[in-house]
Amino acid sequence: MLQDPKFISPPLLEIKGLRASFRGSNGYGEAVRGIDLTLQPGKVLGIVGESGSGKSVSMMALLQLLPAGSLVTGSAKFGGRELVGMAPGDIRRIRGKQIGVIFQDPLTAFNPVLTIGEQIAEAIRLHDASVSRKQGLERAEHLLDSVAIPQPRRRVSQYPHEFSGGMRQRAMIAMAIANSPQLLIADEPTTALDVTVQAQILDLLQRLREELGIGLVLITHDLGVVAGSADEIAVMYGGRIVERGQVEDIFYRTRHPYTRGLLRAMPNIEDDGENLTPIEGTPPSIWARPGGCAFHPRCVNAQAICASDDPELRPAQATLSACHFADRLPQMLAPVLEMTP
Ligand SMILES: Nc1ncnc2c1ncn2[C@@H]1O[C@H](COP(=O)(O)OP(=O)(O)O)[C@@H](O)[C@H]1O
Ligand code: SF4
Ligand SMILES: [Mg+2]
Repeated sequence: MLQDPKFISPPLLEIKGLRASFRGSNGYGEAVRGIDLTLQPGKVLGIVGESGSGKSVSMMALLQLLPAGSLVTGSAKFGGRELVGMAPGDIRRIRGKQIGVIFQDPLTAFNPVLTIGEQIAEAIRLHDASVSRKQGLERAEHLLDSVAIPQPRRRVSQYPHEFSGGMRQRAMIAMAIANSPQLLIADEPTTALDVTVQAQILDLLQRLREELGIGLVLITHDLGVVAGSADEIAVMYGGRIVERGQVEDIFYRTRHPYTRGLLRAMPNIEDDGENLTPIEGTPPSIWARPGGCAFHPRCVNAQAICASDDPELRPAQATLSACHFADRLPQMLAPVLEMTP
């Protein structure tokens, strides 16, 4: 059914040509090299790639959380409002209110000398001065309850070190949703946690998306984390998106050798990780990135052109792929994984 364009709301997040560079002794090093992403309200976008591929920097760039002296260009619109170049006071009002952020290590995100409750209450009062300290603490208790922390009344007056890793991550999520954000950016939210707790946290994020309609950007180096939680996946390498598509298409119909490498490196439940094949080599540094396709020194499919020409991200059957040979991969590669959807 066609919708009247007047009633189509802008995407929750729309990133176009976003670039971010750091200043070094010999000029700038580009960590994010022109990425395009779109997230609709209530959807989950997974950003995946090995460490150093530019996942965190791209989100920190649009939140204006990069160190002074970094350079950010391009566009990142949140509900139609441009974040790149937004005045510091305006972005501060959006950060922590309409956009909640969850970091990998909640121990460093929390202040060790304040109770969990005080910190959540402060996060609320920072954006709404009409909330008293007492009301803030009550809300904090309720929030701890909503992220399934047992005995929230007792927990609210405890310090971060009194929480286990999993409970701290829940408290971090409680703080991130304290001001009812429309968008939650979760950067490796489960990396430090064991598998069981990891599954619980992912369930919790999924529940928040369903109950509150929050859009979620889920950053991870682990494809397994996004397999069950994301709608769409963007695979990053060397500061670019090398493949993008619906989660099933990325898993079963990938058109990029790097994504295939990540899939091969995934522990497979059936073989106890026996056939696990890591991608050889390491991701490039922003100061010494190879020319052409940044993945070419590690790519089993590389040809001469890969060392000289950087491929564009373009449609290749079910996904968008940045590979010169995206359409010819089935002939070039042995089948990787036998996975039934
Ligand atoms: N403050 C910084 N100064 C210089 N380089 C940085 C800085 N932060 C990140 N980088 C570099 O930018 C690249 C992308 O980093 P990042 O986005 O953190 O990767 P990841 O995909 O693991 O989140 C890496 O090569 C990293 O070393
Ligand atoms: S462009 Fe070449 S090096 Fe890059 S992923 Fe494709 S085949 Fe590999
Ligand atoms: Mg990171």
